[in-house]
Amino acid sequence: MKTALVTGATDGVGRVVATRLAAQGWRVLAHGRNQQRGEQLAREIGATFLKADLSSLSEVRRLAELVKAQTAELQLLINNAGIGSVGDRPGRHESADGHELRFAVNYLAGFQLTHLLLPLLKAGAPARIVNVSSAGQQAIDFDDVMLTRGYSGGRAYCQSKLAQILFTFDLAEELAGTGVTATCLHPATYMDTTMVRRAGVKPWSSVAEGAEAIMNLALSPSLQGRSGLYFNGINQAQPNPQAFDLDARRRLRTLSLELTDLAGQVT
Ligand SMILES: NC(=O)c1ccc[n+]([C@@H]2O[C@H](COP(=O)([O-])OP(=O)(O)OC[C@H]3O[C@@H](n4cnc5c(N)ncnc54)[C@H](OP(=O)(O)O)[C@@H]3O)[C@@H](O)[C@H]2O)c1
Repeated sequence: MKTALVTGATDGVGRVVATRLAAQGWRVLAHGRNQQRGEQLAREIGATFLKADLSSLSEVRRLAELVKAQTAELQLLINNAGIGSVGDRPGRHESADGHELRFAVNYLAGFQLTHLLLPLLKAGAPARIVNVSSAGQQAIDFDDVMLTRGYSGGRAYCQSKLAQILFTFDLAEELAGTGVTATCLHPATYMDTTMVRRAGVKPWSSVAEGAEAIMNLALSPSLQGRSGLYFNGINQAQPNPQAFDLDARRRLRTLSLELTDLAGQVT
């Protein structure tokens, strides 16, 4: 049986994706933060709920250990958990480790989790990594990555979402020849989810539409072996040009390895 880890499976599009994977016979490891909704989902779809708050790097490490206790192989990792431009508290916040919160949860946690789980993905190859990004993208300011100046929730969100894309492109190169691919996408615009409702935006698209786009990258036979791609929905698209800036990618990678204590462990 193939095994998938879906982060942020307790709500929104992640919940629908986890449900669809389980219905298609996958063993699903469903990550989330909310215990009650996690347990309910696990009962509903026959998944294993793994609880972790991704705003803490030690929690991300613990999540990787929980996954390793469940399985020696992964065929699919969907980094989906995230905070929107309007979170549950207004203003700039920091993670447990002192990093800007959206950068930490939306990007850095996925970066760290993916690297910690690479041995399982390689063991499970052919395997896919899908990073759920967004069309909302803003170039990373390497002089102030943590946005201590000119902060807004929207800017923090868009920067973290572009960071996921830089990471995906970098990872695709790193994983060439291993049988593990990495792709990323904007699932759909303003789906009817908690994140969008919290922002006070009238939803434009259904959660089903976004789930379909994620499932396409996760399972489509036409994408077998294809890596380093960005999709808008079900169509390949062009992200912000910074995604093709090799110097920006190197800087982000170096910073991320340092912040996650992975420098020296990952070549
Ligand atoms: N909604 C859209 O229109 C849209 C558009 C483009 C991209 N996206 C992307 O799609 C992904 C899913 O968004 P959504 O709209 O489905 O969001 P959502 O309904 O708000 O769900 C967010 C999920 O992320 C989890 N999460 C949030 N903060 C967390 C933390 N600190 N630690 C662990 N888990 C955390 C939540 O867990 P709990 O519920 O357990 O707290 C929940 O499962 C995000 O990456 C988002 O950026 C969404």
